[in-house]
Amino acid sequence: MSAGGAAPDSEAPHLDFAGTTPYEDYVQADVLTHLQHPRSDEPGEMVFLVTTQVMELWFTVIVHEWETAAAALRRGELPVAMAALKRSAWELESLNASWKPIAHLTPAQFNAYRSALGEGSGFQSAMYRRMEFLLGDKSASMLVPHRGAPRVHAELEKALAEPSLYDEVLRLLARRGYAIPAEVLEREPTARYEAHPDVEEAWARVYAGDQDGELVRLGEALTEVGELVWRWRNDHLVATRRAMGSKVGTGGSAGVAWLEKRARKNVFPELWGARSRV
Ligand code: HEM
Repeated sequence: MSAGGAAPDSEAPHLDFAGTTPYEDYVQADVLTHLQHPRSDEPGEMVFLVTTQVMELWFTVIVHEWETAAAALRRGELPVAMAALKRSAWELESLNASWKPIAHLTPAQFNAYRSALGEGSGFQSAMYRRMEFLLGDKSASMLVPHRGAPRVHAELEKALAEPSLYDEVLRLLARRGYAIPAEVLEREPTARYEAHPDVEEAWARVYAGDQDGELVRLGEALTEVGELVWRWRNDHLVATRRAMGSKVGTGGSAGVAWLEKRARKNVFPELWGARSRV
């Protein structure tokens, strides 16, 4: 931060660098702030584009946190996993706050640059898909749109084949003596996770126990994450309703009707189900 006009020179920040500034070398702000290429003359398109890019950056951080948490759980390092999950909850709050600048578009405002998006849709966001994979919502067909982008495709393929964050949580519960069925523990990792009544029962037992215990705190951190992801989906749904009513999406889906179906689903449904049984 600047020291202000009155500061003697000896206290002023350095101004003279042989090459680019150390700030630039670390942050790459020059690269980052020249990645905005609106496709229409509509002044409102810039905020739509930047909001989308900001969300992509948050998706990237959140994926990093959940991968950190999954790896820590695999090693049995619960405090490391908890710290990453808690950071991710704050990041999800920031992600969700990013809706504000585009949450109140009128259909006419959105229409002014909608055609510039062509067939582009957030549905094709690979980083969002990695978030969904980590939550357990795996789907091999979601790799298809990325066939033409080798790096993205390889990253998604790896994420599809790896156990999800939730798989690692259930393995930990099993190691701690909770009755997680073998068919859940040995499930095919590339398949979508389906809620299981015995897993809900295991969570109900966790929640009936020590309220300050590690596993209740883990359950609560996951519930927080689940709630905030659900909020992102619902904020997206409402912003979409405002901007385009029930028109077909640029990605070719039924638009709002399709998003409504997605938004109705709970993230980590067994954790929510268990709450009615405590
Ligand atoms: C008001 C602006 C927006 C509208 C009207 C809108 C509309 C839609 C629609 C209709 C879909 C369904 C797929 C399709 O047919 O395109 C969709 C999916 C999606 N959008 Fe948006 N969107 C908006 C803003 C954003 C932003 C800023 C992001 C941030 C990256 C985003 C990310 C996504 C994602 C990740 C999906 C896939 C969701 C899933 O697979 O469950 N959208 N959007």
